[in-house]
Amino acid sequence: MKPSLLARINYSSVYAYELLDTIVHFPDLLLKRFYKIRVPSDNSLVLELGCGTGRSSRMFAGKNVRVVNADINKTFVAYGNKKKRLDRPVVCSAYALGFCTNAFDVVIVPDAFHHILNHEQLFCECNRVLKREGIFIIFDIVMEKKAPNAVINHFADGFIWSLSVQGFLEKIKNLAAAFGFTVAEVTMNKEKTLMGLLGGIDIQVRMVKNT
Ligand SMILES: C[S@@+](CC[C@H](N)C(=O)[O-])C[C@H]1O[C@@H](n2cnc3c(N)ncnc32)[C@H](O)[C@@H]1O
Repeated sequence: MKPSLLARINYSSVYAYELLDTIVHFPDLLLKRFYKIRVPSDNSLVLELGCGTGRSSRMFAGKNVRVVNADINKTFVAYGNKKKRLDRPVVCSAYALGFCTNAFDVVIVPDAFHHILNHEQLFCECNRVLKREGIFIIFDIVMEKKAPNAVINHFADGFIWSLSVQGFLEKIKNLAAAFGFTVAEVTMNKEKTLMGLLGGIDIQVRMVKNT
């Protein structure tokens, strides 16, 4: 699948990416939606996977956590680091996390699940790096209305899935069962943004790694 014009603009520079992200989430300029993510505050070691330029990393503000911010896109990570948005920046793929087994208390994937083609490999790696009973949180945008539940676009370093609430939940339920997680909680909020007008819903799935 060839990258579309939108995809090419989005990944041509961090500025284009941030501008587009600002437009689709307008008027949530402070990106308050990320504060809905249930980040622990107990000195946990947290992996933020798919941190991008660090716009989602604001969820950790004021929390007593130690954070490693990882993304496959080195330009995005370098920019986020320059902007002092990231705690411990690392460039790596979700398919081959360069961390020890049982290393993290929590893994959070913010707005990145719909960019990852191989969800099986994502779950396999997240299970590996999480401690027993570790928390795995996926925060993403799904479509309230009809969605193809398929890859709809090809990005320079990822893909875009368009998933309906039902399609997303079915996918997560199957992946959780196959890769040793129990789904503990699902929350949904209609986005009060342009994305929301288009039918976008913020969905948060909290899973626990089985012992
Ligand atoms: C929509 S951006 C979200 C970035 C950030 N979390 C935010 O909300 O601002 C999706 C991110 O997923 C990253 N990504 C895509 N495929 C990836 C992979 N296989 N491994 C790690 N990161 C990936 C992209 O580089 C991009 O930064």
